[in-house]
Amino acid sequence: MQQEPIIRITERPKPPRPEELNLRFSERAVKELEALLTHYPDKKSAMLPALWIAQREYGGQLTSDAIAEVAYRLQRSYAEVEGVATFYTMYNKTPVGKYMLEVCTNLTCMICGAYRILEHLEQRLGIRLGETTPDGMFTLAEVECLNNCGDAPVMQVGDIYCRRLTPEAIDALLEQLRNSDEHTVVQLADAEVQLHLSEQERRAAENA
Ligand code: FES
Repeated sequence: MQQEPIIRITERPKPPRPEELNLRFSERAVKELEALLTHYPDKKSAMLPALWIAQREYGGQLTSDAIAEVAYRLQRSYAEVEGVATFYTMYNKTPVGKYMLEVCTNLTCMICGAYRILEHLEQRLGIRLGETTPDGMFTLAEVECLNNCGDAPVMQVGDIYCRRLTPEAIDALLEQLRNSDEHTVVQLADAEVQLHLSEQERRAAENA
């Protein structure tokens, strides 16, 4: 009898060839990156905020094109940028929904009912952990401690924390998110970029 492979090797996205490079950073993004580069001794050191810019500019996901653009703009190899992007969980390497629902299941949250919250979300959304709803609205993820244990159970949605969660609070939140354009994956990426810039740099980039 043929055995199932223990490890499935999925196809790794191929980097675009240099002649296929299609730069997509907006003028604002280029200005932000220029400002960021003045904060560091070399271009390589700006890689994490540069990846946040790319995640925002590419709609919430670091595609192979996005990684290639960061590599081009920082004059690093594709492999080096990909190595950094794939090391950190906050960078999305696969398509995600408009909203990421990141439920903490670390010790305190687990004791305070995080898995009940996860089950409730799975039921309400009709998806399992790691999946995205068919309408592209929500992706459900499990994360480690969000450093807000005193308010467990906690979930991060874009740029906000939802604390002391209950099934009723979850239902109200889902309703609110369905009717809003706030706390999206793209807005989280933008918030991270803005954290790295001074007020003056922010204004200069906005006027680009
Ligand atoms: S264990 Fe969930 S915030 Fe710390």
